[in-house]
Amino acid sequence: EKGRVLAEQGRTTDKVPACLTCHDKANTNPAYPKLSGQNSAYLRQQLVSFQTGTRGGSNYAHLMTNTAKKLSPEDIDAAAVYFSRRESIPQ
Ligand code: HEC
Repeated sequence: EKGRVLAEQGRTTDKVPACLTCHDKANTNPAYPKLSGQNSAYLRQQLVSFQTGTRGGSNYAHLMTNTAKKLSPEDIDAAAVYFSRRESIPQ
């Protein structure tokens, strides 16, 4: 539930943008990777490496680094589990 709220609404108190404004939309910019259906441990690891700055990534990585820094370990768990269980959309 917490993961779903982060994905759909983000969090206004510390300006976490809704993950779904960038991720997992049909016909979206291909620079935004699809999250749904990916392994939760993998998703968690990516978020942690954005936080610690150890994930290289593309020219768009800064979009994600700023968001990741606002996430608590609980947020990361919730989001990773939510997206791993979410049905992936056809691309
Ligand atoms: C402003 C747009 C934007 C928002 C909002 C956003 N992301 Fe991202 N995200 C990106 C971009 C761009 C990348 C790819 C960066 C790269 O590879 O360099 C990315 C990559 C990721 C990855 C790595 C995926 C992979 O396949 O390696 C994860 C996990 C992720 N985002 C989770 C989230 C979560 C969780 C949220 C919500 C809390 C979120 N993102 C919100 C733009 C965004």
